[in-house]
This record gives sequence, structure tokens and C-alpha cells, in this order.
Amino acid sequence: MKEQLRSIEAKAQEAISNVADLKALDDLRVRFLGKKGELTAILKQMGKLSAEERPAMGQLANQVRSTLEGLIADKTAALQAAAQNARLAAETLDITMPGTKPPVGRLHPLQIVENEVREIFLGMGFSVADGPEVEYDYYNFEALNLPPDHPARDTQDTFYITDNILLRTQTSSVQVHVMETQKPPIRVISPGRVYRSDAVDATHSPLFHQIEGLVIDKGITMADLKGTLELLMQRLYGDDCKIRLRPHHFPFTEPSAEVDVMCFQCMGKGCRMCKNEGYIELLGAGMVHPWVLENSGIDSSAYSGFAFGLGLERIVMRRYNISDMRLLFENDMRFLEQFRG
Ligand code: PHE
Repeated sequence: MKEQLRSIEAKAQEAISNVADLKALDDLRVRFLGKKGELTAILKQMGKLSAEERPAMGQLANQVRSTLEGLIADKTAALQAAAQNARLAAETLDITMPGTKPPVGRLHPLQIVENEVREIFLGMGFSVADGPEVEYDYYNFEALNLPPDHPARDTQDTFYITDNILLRTQTSSVQVHVMETQKPPIRVISPGRVYRSDAVDATHSPLFHQIEGLVIDKGITMADLKGTLELLMQRLYGDDCKIRLRPHHFPFTEPSAEVDVMCFQCMGKGCRMCKNEGYIELLGAGMVHPWVLENSGIDSSAYSGFAFGLGLERIVMRRYNISDMRLLFENDMRFLEQFRG
């Protein structure tokens, strides 16, 4: 029996040292130490031994069992470590390898200049008002002295949702919302998108941007309008920038003016850039028409005000010397990458 135990021990030792995976190792454990295993089979024959032989044999059997258990435990640990190392090697992550830089976006030139204009007006004590782009006819036209058959509507044809609801053609609609909800003194600007059914060319787009301004208080005059716009243009284009007001007509301001800024290329002398005018038109403005004040519930005998609407695209194009408005809407990265806000 002693020889049998020794031979099992040797066989098992050899088999365990040669085993290459955990599954095969477990099979060996069952084969040698399991309930129906080889060692157990020997132990079952202990009863045949004499009382003198039995303790020594029992001790040897236990010794073999614990030796084999120890070997199996060591081998298990070794195989697990090897498996872990193999997995780590396969999953290697080289943290020193340079990564792929995600493309970082930047502000659109329209947004850069809009932010600048906002800052300039915030510095003058204006706040910013927002208004809907999908608008009632009333706010876009009627409350601004443009009744249904007014000829000036022809120049602002737009996209209609229903007969009564349209895409706003001008941010002047926000003037009415503001006057309906705020009491004078009022000092707001309102930047946003506007729409007209214009064909696309170098200076027209069916979608463009305006920044509206509205000031209403006691004793506001055209001088306040001119001073405010002059300051704006000097902040945008430099202290020697000059503006010029030309008489014009808007149904919702009286008197009205178009405001031009002096051409930087020729300093007012006339060149190709300004089509020999010396000045470039940038915005419409005027004193808020008393009817518009009254329409929105403001007493026109006590209050007066000025309003202006400036075309953001024009300012941006002047600012960066861009000759074709389409560039602003094509989302060509080669173009957009050139601007930093
Ligand atoms: N809304 C006018 C336009 O789009 C501009 C304007 C605004 C004129 C405010 C006067 C006062 O042409």
C-alpha cells in the first residue's frame, strides 16, 4: 500500500507539473483527490490493514493528500498569474503614445462681432431682449405702421406659415414686444435672425442677422441717436471713424435716416471698396414714430425714443474685408478657421 501511495504521489506530481490550463488541472484534482479518485480508492482499502499498520499508513496518505493539495494550489496560482499576464500583454495601452486631437470648434465671425456689439451696448447700460423668429404679422408689420396694403411690404417679402404668421423680416418686431411688456425708460438691443425671400447673391441671403436697438425715455432726441451710433462705430472701427446720416423713410420712425460709416480704404475720398461713395451704408434708424409708441401703450406726448436696426453681415464683411456674403453661410472650414473670437 505504501508503494501504491508513493506511486500515486509521483504520478500526480508529474501530471500537475505538466498541466497547462486550469480546466485540465481541475480534472487532475478530481482524478486523484476526488470522491471517486485514486487516493480515495486506496484509503478505502485501509480496513484491510492490521491495527499496527493503519496509523502509519493513514499518516502517509494524509501527507500525500496535503502535498498534492499544495501542489494544486501553487499551480492554480501560477496558471492564474500567467493568464492575467497574457491578458495584460494583449490589452496593452501605451499611455505615452500621442493621442488624436479632437477638432476644437471656434466662434463664427458673425458670433464674434455680435458678442462685441453686445459688450459695447452693455457698457452703455442697455440690456438684451429676445423675440420670436416665427412672428405674427401684427408685430412684424402692422404695429410698425405697415398695414396690409402698405407698399413698403413689397421690399420685405418673406416666408409665410399662415396668412397671419410669418418668419420675421426685421428685428424691429422686438421693439413692439418690448414696449408692450416694459415701462420707459427702455434701453435694449435685440440681436437675431431675420428672413426675406431674397435670391442668394454676394450681398443677399434669405436668412441674415440684425441687431435692433430701442431707447425710450423723456426728452430723447436725434442727437442721442447719433451719439450712440457714433460711439458704437468708434468702438468697432477705431476712434477716427466717422458716420453720416442720410434722410430716409421707414414707416415706423419719423424722421428716419440711413446711417453710413466712413470707408476705411479711402477715408471718405471714394474707392472701389465703397463704390466711390466714400461711405458705406450700415444701418437704418430714426425717432420712433408716435403711432408706434401709442400702438404699444406708451404715451407719445410724454415719451420719445430712437430705434435702429443694423445688419450684422455688413458689419462683419466690413470688419474682415469679406467680399461675398455667401462665405458666411457655407460652413467651409477653410474659411471659418481664419477667425478667432
Ligand atoms: N427694420 C429696418 C430694416 O430692416 C431697420 C430699422 C430699424 C430702421 C429701426 C429704423 C429703425 O430695414
